[in-house]
Order: sequence, then structure tokens, then C-alpha cells
Amino acid sequence: MSDFTVSPLIEADRGWLCDFIAEHWDEGFIVTRGAKHFPASLEGFAARRGDAVVGVITYRFNPPGVEIVTLNSVLPDRGVGTALIDAVRPIARAKGVPVWLITTNDNLRALRFYQKRGFTLKALHRNALEVSRTLKPIETIGLDGIPLRDEIDLELADP
Ligand SMILES: CC(C)(COP(=O)(O)OP(=O)(O)OC[C@H]1O[C@@H](n2cnc3c(N)ncnc32)[C@H](O)[C@@H]1OP(=O)(O)O)[C@@H](O)C(=O)NCCC(=O)NCCS
Repeated sequence: MSDFTVSPLIEADRGWLCDFIAEHWDEGFIVTRGAKHFPASLEGFAARRGDAVVGVITYRFNPPGVEIVTLNSVLPDRGVGTALIDAVRPIARAKGVPVWLITTNDNLRALRFYQKRGFTLKALHRNALEVSRTLKPIETIGLDGIPLRDEIDLELADP
């Protein structure tokens, strides 16, 4: 049985959410597809253990479906990431659209995590980070020492 709960983000969450996003994504915004996005203003869910936030997912409606904009778990391997995805799935299911997201070529943990949960690789945007770096300082070497270059789209066609 999990020792955390998942609930929708509400307006009262916006303050700490700005700090949370800045802490996990270096600044208050992320860059994908050559544009800035501000996750702290989006809809989403928080996972909490007691008063402590142990994970956040944000999403938006962006064709062809519901796009997961950020997902962060600070309690690894306890089911938080899975529970946050499971919170978003019914929103897409109700609209008859897929869930999709963008990650980067170095994020092997995310690629593993999403594919084990039914997501499939949808598109590769080679050297997309070159454009992103014109909007935000992003390191050239990413996770596990892998050159950080590309955006990869994943899709859960049947949420
Ligand atoms: C990717 C990420 C969201 C995964 O979060 P997480 O909370 O560790 O995910 P879960 O706990 O649900 O699943 C991770 C593993 O723990 C396992 N697990 C879950 N509950 C468990 C438990 N109680 N005991 C043991 N293992 C457990 C899961 O089975 C899973 O393993 P599997 O993929 O082999 O099935 C997290 O690593 C993260 O925040 N990464 C940084 C940000 C990022 O890259 N986000 C994604 C791009 S937007």
C-alpha cells in the first residue's frame, strides 16, 4: 500500500510549485520545440506524503492530446511517478485522445520508465536542443555523460 496521496493542483499550490519547478528544471520555465513553457501555471497533480510534496506532474491540452509537460518524483522507486501518470490518463481517456510528452535523448531513466508503462516512441527531433539553448542555458553533456542533443516524443495511444 502506498504511503502517499495524489490530488489535483489548486491555486493555493502555485507558490511552492514555482519553487519546485525552478529547483527541478533550473529555472521557472522549460524549453521544448523552441519555445518557453511555464509549468507552474499549468494544471496538474501533486503527490504528498504527509505535508511533504514527493512528486508533481503538470500537463496541458496540446494536439494531438494531453501533453505531460513535467513529471518529477522526489521519492524514487515507490510508485510516485506511476501514480502521477495514472492521474492524467483518465483526463485523456475521457476526451478520446492520447497522452504524449517530450523528453531528451540522454534521459534513459525516463525512456525506460515511460516505455514500460505503454508509451511508444513517436518522433525524433534531431538537434532540437540547439534551438533550446538560444532561450535557456542548457548543458551540452546530459545525464550519464551522454551528449544532450535531441528531443524524443513518446505517446500513450490508448490511455
Ligand atoms: C522518471 C521518474 C518520474 C520516475 O519516478 P518514480 O517515482 O521513481 O517512478 P515509480 O516509483 O513509479 O517507478 C520506478 C520503478 O520503481 C518501481 N517501484 C514502484 N513502487 C515500488 C515499491 N514500493 N518498491 C519497489 N519498487 C517499486 C516501479 O516498478 C518502477 O520500476 P519499473 O520501471 O522497472 O517497473 C523519476 O525518475 C524522475 O522524476 N526523474 C527526473 C525527472 C524526469 O526525468 N522526468 C521525466 C521527463 S519529463
